[in-house]
Amino acid sequence: MIKMKLALFALVAVLCATLVSGCSNTPYKNEVSPVYYANNLTATELALHEGNMQKVIDYYLNGPTGAKSFFSALIVDAVTNEEICYGYNQGGKSMIYHGEIQAIMNCTTITGRNSWSGTYLYTTGESCPMCQAAIMWSGFDKVIYGSSIKTLYCENCMTQIALDSNVVNGQGFGLVQANNQTAWKPVQIIGGILSNITDTKVFRNYCNSTTSIFKATPYCNADFVGYNNTCAGTNSTCPPCENNATCPPCENAASFNANTMSFVLISFLAAIVIFA
Ligand SMILES: *[C@@H]1O[C@H](CO)[C@@H](O)[C@H](O)[C@H]1NC(C)=O
Ligand SMILES: *[C@@H]1O[C@H](CO)[C@@H](O)[C@H](O)[C@H]1NC(C)=O
Ligand SMILES: *[C@@H]1O[C@H](CO)[C@@H](O)[C@H](O)[C@H]1NC(C)=O
Ligand SMILES: *[C@@H]1O[C@H](CO)[C@@H](O)[C@H](O)[C@H]1NC(C)=O
Ligand SMILES: *[C@@H]1O[C@H](CO)[C@@H](O)[C@H](O)[C@H]1NC(C)=O
Ligand SMILES: *[C@@H]1O[C@H](CO)[C@@H](O)[C@H](O)[C@H]1NC(C)=O
Ligand SMILES: *[C@@H]1O[C@H](CO)[C@@H](O)[C@H](O)[C@H]1NC(C)=O
Ligand SMILES: *[C@@H]1O[C@H](CO)[C@@H](O)[C@H](O)[C@H]1NC(C)=O
Repeated sequence: MIKMKLALFALVAVLCATLVSGCSNTPYKNEVSPVYYANNLTATELALHEGNMQKVIDYYLNGPTGAKSFFSALIVDAVTNEEICYGYNQGGKSMIYHGEIQAIMNCTTITGRNSWSGTYLYTTGESCPMCQAAIMWSGFDKVIYGSSIKTLYCENCMTQIALDSNVVNGQGFGLVQANNQTAWKPVQIIGGILSNITDTKVFRNYCNSTTSIFKATPYCNADFVGYNNTCAGTNSTCPPCENNATCPPCENAASFNANTMSFVLISFLAAIVIFA
């Protein structure tokens, strides 16, 4: 009798495992775009981006932006590197007037164009989900940022939506080119350009502030080491290897995911029913 019960339990457990692991928890394919850093660029391309990022930093320091508009942006022609226009955060007027949005709107007013294929957008800080989506809809070839959201939020305690631009960008496969039924050309994301300046001279660290409206209390995983590191968030003995090609391969300690959890729960319930 106990053998039959065991066999029945095994059958139920296998069926549950098949059912549980066979389901996707989202209708969409999850994609994450790569982020290119200084070490991924040729010396010529890096010099171009650093030169343009310096212009945005100067615009912030000397332009009409004022002390609070640290998110400043510049759009340039990808071929001639001609400046098309600048934009800067005007959150005092509207919370959605972010630097990138303002640059796109400003450039649209100036030029009348609505597809930004053939141009690059520079921004002092990594684009929030709203701005990254606007950049994707607009069809920019590249977006180049200085400080990362991870630095601003997790390290500088600055208010941000905790979602990286390359995660938003990865879902762009659903789009077609603006005004053009051809496949979407992914926006290339280049990060950390002159972050040695933007992290400290443009943005501030608010962790000790008691008065700033930008102060946030970070809710971050201290052991996060990068999107393509299979140890991310689980294996504390894995050395930090973000942006670092030489990092050793690590194994994921946390294969215990939501599906495994459901499987264990259902098996447990089945055991109670069968053996009761
Ligand atoms: C719009 O772009 C122009 C030209 O680059 C710049 O001088 C101006 O400050 C920008 N205006 C706003 C509101 O961003
Ligand atoms: C449509 O996309 C193709 C391929 O990217 C491009 O050559 C063409 O100029 C685009 N047409 C318009 C109207 O944007
Ligand atoms: C920032 O880094 C760049 C190289 O990426 C370097 O040329 C520049 O001198 C650095 N600036 C400061 C202020 O550290
Ligand atoms: C915050 O205050 C602590 C304690 O005074 C200090 O050690 C730390 O360096 C400060 N952090 C920043 C970013 O100013
Ligand atoms: C992530 O790492 C795996 C295993 O090393 C590799 O096969 C894959 O190509 C990597 N993906 C990206 C986007 O770098
Ligand atoms: C950037 O360079 C590193 C080191 O060579 C490499 O591991 C990584 O895959 C490169 N990233 C991209 C997006 O090509
Ligand atoms: C790359 O990773 C190795 C091993 O974790 C580390 O020793 C080295 O400092 C890292 N290099 C950079 C440029 O981050
Ligand atoms: C954690 O990573 C280290 C370094 O790759 C590896 O040797 C170790 O087996 C991993 N531990 C677990 C529990 O996965």
